[in-house]
Amino acid sequence: MRISMYILGINAYHGDAAAALVCDGRLIAAAEEERFNRFKHSAGFPAQAIRYCLEAAGIGPEELDHVGVSRDPSAHLHKKILFAATRVASEGIFNQIKDRLGNAAKVRDLKDELARVFGVSKKVLRARFHNIEHHRAHLASCFFVSPFERAALLSIDGFGDFISTMWALGEGNSIDVLGQVEYPHSTGIVYTATTQFLGFPYYGDEGKVMGLAPYGRPRFIAEFRDIIRTEENGQFRLNLDYFRHHAEGVEMTWDEGSPVIGRVFSDEYAHVFGPPRAAGAPLSDRERDIAASLQLRLEEVCFHILNHLHEKTGLTDLGLAGGVAYNSVMNGKILLNTPFKRLFIQPAAGDSGTALGVCYQIYNTILKGQRTEVMLGAYTGPEFKAEAIESALLASNLRFESYSDEALTNRAAQDIAAGLVVGWFQGRMEFGPRALGNRSIVVDPRRAEMKDILNDRIKKREPFRPFAPSILEERVADYFEQTHPAPTMLMVYQIKEERRGEIPAVTHVDGSGRLQTVSREVNARYYQLISDFGALTGVPVVLNTSFNENEPIVCTPQQAIDCFQKTKMDVLYLANYAIRRQ
Ligand SMILES: [Fe+2]
Repeated sequence: MRISMYILGINAYHGDAAAALVCDGRLIAAAEEERFNRFKHSAGFPAQAIRYCLEAAGIGPEELDHVGVSRDPSAHLHKKILFAATRVASEGIFNQIKDRLGNAAKVRDLKDELARVFGVSKKVLRARFHNIEHHRAHLASCFFVSPFERAALLSIDGFGDFISTMWALGEGNSIDVLGQVEYPHSTGIVYTATTQFLGFPYYGDEGKVMGLAPYGRPRFIAEFRDIIRTEENGQFRLNLDYFRHHAEGVEMTWDEGSPVIGRVFSDEYAHVFGPPRAAGAPLSDRERDIAASLQLRLEEVCFHILNHLHEKTGLTDLGLAGGVAYNSVMNGKILLNTPFKRLFIQPAAGDSGTALGVCYQIYNTILKGQRTEVMLGAYTGPEFKAEAIESALLASNLRFESYSDEALTNRAAQDIAAGLVVGWFQGRMEFGPRALGNRSIVVDPRRAEMKDILNDRIKKREPFRPFAPSILEERVADYFEQTHPAPTMLMVYQIKEERRGEIPAVTHVDGSGRLQTVSREVNARYYQLISDFGALTGVPVVLNTSFNENEPIVCTPQQAIDCFQKTKMDVLYLANYAIRRQ
């Protein structure tokens, strides 16, 4: 009898803590800790996500063969020491390094922590433990589950293990690093600093600035070209006068709960742009224009790196990962501004995805396993059986109906077409920040007013932020200027001018849309829903927003029912059941 080999990968003591589990090269489960402990972008140790992964595999911790974390305290150690030694006069930077060393000690005690979570003795754990450098985990996450045999790879984020950017050539089961950009230079840190300056203080607020950018003109592009300067060989450097992280250090909290990052921008920002905007203050053209300039500069720098990467590799297939790979506006322009022809971005491109990368770095590179997994969707989280859903419904005391498979999507499509706000809870929860039709709220994109209705009744988001369309994959060319599939909703394309009036609720101010292309192969039920909506209305597109009310996306049927009751959602479909607002 063949014995299976289990690998657990985790991202811990860093934003978006997560766990992933691979068995004989197959991805069994992956999820973010925030979905279980209900703190957005939760850091700390992903105890509940690990528990879920083991349950999904039906094993105990003693059956794990390998466990890895996406952090290697010893990586680039000489550079860290050199950097600290040259700045020893600054107390802030000393404290920052001390904090990170404390954090590194926790990473080393991974085995203790795992034993503690499961209440077992350390001796029971027979797994081999690994530290996988942060960016190598990112690179592994976008290559080993891609459809590419060979590909150029780019990992780009704030920082991880003292590196902000790493590019490589992936081939078969190995990844060859070709170049990197080191601390304190980082495109991600510029985006975070500017996001803070613009009055959006929370971890993960960068997406808001990306949404604001199309309202502005890039009239500060010269300033941003001074802030990030490109150099030869794909390199770039920051003008450090604008930043605090390298000189004084920046407070960062990576314990249980949402991460907190102190002020990154220096007083130089105010010298150049005027005073920072206070959170909640009205937005003016200045903020819109700063956002537009920042976005344009990020794109320029990214294309600069990618053009170099193409020159080095001669390849036209690209894998992209790292927090900056959540910049879907930038992603949507890559195929237009570089020689790359195909682009793969796995759904958890940011730090949670390093948990997945750790598994495959161990499986493919360390153990030389053969590649077997292509990640087409994002559906690796918890799912709930009909009995569990029915008992949650019964406990809620709400009246519910049940439908056959065919009647279900048909009826839901009618509800959407009638202008109702529809909760759509199906199958396995998504990995990564996007709801992709299993934990979604779905409404009619033809009705311009749906944006305000969603914001008033449920989402309470800033009015400038766009909502996204899900479209049948084979109809993309009818509605969008580009057709490369975007199954994980990480590409923004221009909507064809003549179609914009047809789907106003998902058309951003600049005529763009952050689309999800939906195929039957990847999500049959969601495909059927959009198909039925298309048959009814002639429009094969729905508006898809995540199932939550300013909190992490719902995970369980109970949380979905709670959200339905708290908000003014009209109907909630849970598997084949539905509850309606009376
Ligand atoms: Fe990262």
